[in-house]
Amino acid sequence: MHILGISCFYHDAAAVLLQQGELVAAAEEERFTRKKHDFGFPANAIAFCLEHAGITAPELDYVVFYEKPLLKFERILTTTLGTFPKSWGVFRESMITWFNDKLWIKGQILGKLPVAADRLLFVEHHLSHAASAFFASPYEEAAILTVDGVGEWTTTTVGKGSADWDGNGRNEIELFSEVRFPHSLGLLYSAFTAFLGFRVNNGEYKVMGMAPYGAANRVDDVHKVVRVGADGGFHLNMDYFSFHRSTARTFSSKFETLFGQPRVHDSIFFTPTTHPDRDHPDWDEATAARNQHYANIAASVQHVTEETLLKMAAYAHRESGLKNLCLAGGVALNSVANGRIMRESPFENVFVQPAAGDSGGALGAALYAYHVLLGRPRSFVQEHGYWGKGYGADEIISAMDAAGVEYRRLNDEEALARAMVSDLVAGKVISVARGRFEWGPRALGNRSILADPRREDMKEIVNTKIKFREPFRPFAPAILEERAADYYELSDADSSYPLRYMLAVYKARKDKQAAIPAVTHTGGTGRLQTVRREWNPLYHRVIESFGEQTGVPVVLNTSFNLRGEPIVNTPADALSTFARSGIDTLYLGDFVIRK
Ligand SMILES: [Fe+2]
Repeated sequence: MHILGISCFYHDAAAVLLQQGELVAAAEEERFTRKKHDFGFPANAIAFCLEHAGITAPELDYVVFYEKPLLKFERILTTTLGTFPKSWGVFRESMITWFNDKLWIKGQILGKLPVAADRLLFVEHHLSHAASAFFASPYEEAAILTVDGVGEWTTTTVGKGSADWDGNGRNEIELFSEVRFPHSLGLLYSAFTAFLGFRVNNGEYKVMGMAPYGAANRVDDVHKVVRVGADGGFHLNMDYFSFHRSTARTFSSKFETLFGQPRVHDSIFFTPTTHPDRDHPDWDEATAARNQHYANIAASVQHVTEETLLKMAAYAHRESGLKNLCLAGGVALNSVANGRIMRESPFENVFVQPAAGDSGGALGAALYAYHVLLGRPRSFVQEHGYWGKGYGADEIISAMDAAGVEYRRLNDEEALARAMVSDLVAGKVISVARGRFEWGPRALGNRSILADPRREDMKEIVNTKIKFREPFRPFAPAILEERAADYYELSDADSSYPLRYMLAVYKARKDKQAAIPAVTHTGGTGRLQTVRREWNPLYHRVIESFGEQTGVPVVLNTSFNLRGEPIVNTPADALSTFARSGIDTLYLGDFVIRK
C-alpha cells in the first residue's frame, strides 16, 4: 500500500511516501525550488517520492493532506470579522489567498495528481503533528505534546498515543487538552522574534542564540503579555499583540511601551558579555547597553517558553501516567527547551520529530491515515534522518563537467575519510554532499560543512568566510555516540533520539569545554549531534579518525548553504554554493574538488 502525505500552503511545504506504513522518502519542497520555506504545492517533492518508490500517481492508494482547510477558513473568517474593521488588511489578504489557493485545496490536489476523489483524506493539523512524533517513535504508549504557531484553531495540544507492535490493540491518538488561537506560544515567540529584529518563521533560532548573552530579568514583564497556569495552559493579553488583526505587525504599541523600541533589523550586535574586553571594532557604550537590553528580553522570553513547556510536560505526565513523551510542532525545534524537558521533566524517554514544523505534518498525516484511519499495525521507527534525494556518480560527473571544475575520484570510504580528516586537521573548512539529504531543518552530515572544533578562531572563520551569519549564533558539535558522555553532561546517548537529530542542548563537561571552543556556546553548552556508525558509516569514520589523530572525537557541523538559502540538494547546488563561498574543499559523492 502506498500513501502520500502532503503539507503546503502555509509554512514549509513537503511530501512523504509510506510503503506498507514504512517511510521510504520525505523531502521539503524548498530543497528543489531553492526558495527558503517554500509553501507552494510540493510538486517537486511529490515527483521525487513517486520516482524513489518507482510508482506513478494513479498507483497511490491514498493521498493525505495535513490539515482541514474548511476549519482553518472558519478560523480566519471568525477572527478577522471579530476584529473588523481593524483587521481589514488581514481579511482582504486572506480572502485573496484562500480563494486563489487554499479553500480549493481538494480541487488543487486532484487537479495536479491523478487520484480518485475518495482516495484523498484530510487529517487535522495538530493530529498530524502528534502522529508525526508518536508513530515515528519506538514507543507503544506515550504522552504527546504539540506546540506551534497555529493550525486550524489549535495552537497547543496535550494527549497520548497507544499502538502495540504486535497489532493486537487499537491504534489511537487522543488529544485531551488544547489551547486555541489567538493564544499561542509559537506566535508569542514570533512576536518577540520580530521585536528583536529578526524575520518571523525564520529568526526564532536567533532569539534562542541571543538569549544566553542576556539575563532573564524581564520575566515579570513577559508575564504581563502571557499568563501561564500551573498546568502550562496559557493566555495572551491581546492588547499587546497585532497578529490577529494585521499582516504587517505582530505586536502592538502597548508592547513597545512595555519593552521599548524594537531592535533595528540586521543591526550590529555586541554586548559587554560578547566582548568583555570591549575589543569590537565598532565598540560604543550606548550600542552595547542597548544590545544588552535586547539580549535580556531574549533571555526572558526564552525562559518563559521553557518554564511553560516544562509545566505542560509535567501536566502531560500526570494526566497520561506514562513514561514516554513525544513532541512536535514548530516550538519543538527549541533545542534549549527540549534539553530541559529531557533532563528536568518526569519523563524517562523523549522523542522529537526532527521535522517538527509544518513540513513534518506531511509525515504525520500519512502515518495517521495508515495506522488510525485504516487500522494497520506498526512496523516503522524513524531511526535516522536521511530520507531525501541522493545522486549517483553519473549525475555528479555531468554536474562537475558542466561547472568546469577539476576533480579526483576516491573510491573507498577509508580514502575519503583520510582526505577529509587531513583537511580538517590542517584547519581547512570542508563541505560534504553525499547520500540522501536530510529530513527536517538540520544537516546531519550528508549536506554539511565541517571544520575543526578545537580552534577558537574557527567560529569566526566559518562565519565570516562562509555562513555570513550573526556572530552570536553558535555552531554545533557532531560527536561519536559512544563518546558523547565523555564530553557532555549526559548518560543515555544511545537511547536518546533528539540527540541524533541535533534537537537538544546540553552542557559540555567543565574539563572539556576548552577543548572544543568553536562549538561551545556562551554558558558552556552545545547543541550536539550524536553519530552512530550504522546510520552514516563515512561520517562516523571521519569523526572517529579525527579523534584518533587529535584526541577529540568531535567535529564542527553546520548546514551546507549560504545565508538565506535552503540547504543544498543537487550536485549543481553543491558546486555553486562551494564556488560562491570560502569553503576550501568539496566532497561530492566519491569525488574531491579543491579550490
Ligand atoms: Fe504547525
